[in-house]
Amino acid sequence: MSEKISFTEDRLAKAKEIIARYPAGKQKSALLPLLHLAQEQFGWVSAATMDYVASLLDIAPIEVYEVATFYTMFHLEPVGKHVIEYCRTGPCCTMGGEEVYDHLKNKLGVKANETTSDGMFTLKEVECLAACGWGPCFQIREKFFMHLDNQKVDEIIDELSK
Ligand code: FES
Repeated sequence: MSEKISFTEDRLAKAKEIIARYPAGKQKSALLPLLHLAQEQFGWVSAATMDYVASLLDIAPIEVYEVATFYTMFHLEPVGKHVIEYCRTGPCCTMGGEEVYDHLKNKLGVKANETTSDGMFTLKEVECLAACGWGPCFQIREKFFMHLDNQKVDEIIDELSK
């Protein structure tokens, strides 16, 4: 039996307002914003959460699963306080991204898709973040960290660890 999931009253009102932006029968268009709302509240997107979003949109759960599992921005497992989304695509790699990535993994003591033992950082590998001219780079929520080198990585992690 799956856990009982529901939005807070405020968030449910927001979800209904988003759904109402779309014509009748096109409520599935609200799927991405509702998944963001869900992740904001629960911290990650569980199967029960996806089922709940499907019920709000009156669509089949599989329609939510196929979207949530496509976008790396949705966390399908519990994550740490800061989720580092590290670009592993060619242009960043050619600008030293692989060496910086190795340094970051050593600094955190984790591999991709792992969370530090103190629950502070989760490391995810992602494709191009559309900041190719400013690589190597990673993203934490809406914030981009660019022109990374080992020293910058140390400064960022040390600052966020405080
Ligand atoms: Fe890294 Fe595009 S290749 S941001």
